[in-house]
Amino acid sequence: MTDIERQAALDEIGVEVAACTRCRLHQGRTRAVPGEGTAATEVVFVGEGPGVNEDRQGRPFVGQAGSLLDDLLASVLWSRDEVFITNVVKCRPPGNRDPEPDEIAACAPYLTRQLEALDPALVVTLGRFSMARFSPGARIGQVHGTFHAADIASGAARALTFCMYHPAAALHQGSLKQTLFTDMLGVPAALTEARAVRASAAPAPEPTTAAPAPEPASVPATDPVAETAPEASSPAGSSHDGPASDSVPLRAPETLVQPPSGEFETTTPADAEFDPASQLGLF
Ligand code: URA
Ligand code: SF4
Repeated sequence: MTDIERQAALDEIGVEVAACTRCRLHQGRTRAVPGEGTAATEVVFVGEGPGVNEDRQGRPFVGQAGSLLDDLLASVLWSRDEVFITNVVKCRPPGNRDPEPDEIAACAPYLTRQLEALDPALVVTLGRFSMARFSPGARIGQVHGTFHAADIASGAARALTFCMYHPAAALHQGSLKQTLFTDMLGVPAALTEARAVRASAAPAPEPTTAAPAPEPASVPATDPVAETAPEASSPAGSSHDGPASDSVPLRAPETLVQPPSGEFETTTPADAEFDPASQLGLF
């Protein structure tokens, strides 16, 4: 499929989503949020669902969580127009409640089709609802910052998936912000690995559905990937299956910027007990 055909498929899905009434979430929406970015990317970020700002603008991750996502992308020298960003549900759950299982199921075909059209090398999941699509049975407290083969039933049949906490979680629990930035440093290395997996023309990954918990490859932020993989790390290129010849050289993880830890302040009351692995809402 050419990038133009991929874009046409994404546009068609966007038109269907805008008019969709498959679940009750259509009733309260101002605008549906199909997702945005470039069809020429190797990397897809998947969040949970639109919030109030996204619902108003019809664009994903444009509120506070979105600005943190922008910062995370910038920390590995990427930008949102080099990737594709979407959500598990395309319409805002009222009051920012969790999406219900029947709503997730009703909306699933859109995400599956988007992934089939994009055929990404890497899917970065933001939060546990997204993670559940690509890493069934995984626990975010255990697998965040790691990657493994994506569940082929997700539509991303030839992708690795990299699990992260949801950026909105860090707005509630400040310590998670540092975790997000640390985990993000592993994303370019995961893309390099994903490219290697595809280049070796391995058969499509087995579904992970049967496994109670995936065994993620660890992604040490200090791994000197640049020495062994001289590919570009820019996720968007003119060639969908790999870097273009004029693409940006791989940025070694150690050159990536990590904001000083002093920048992170918790908004969680000091006496609050917070276990990121026992999830509420977006975590
Ligand atoms: N949170 C999400 O999960 N998705 C968005 O688009 C915005 C906030
Ligand atoms: Fe349709 Fe998904 Fe919106 Fe539900 S959330 S109405 S399934 S687009």
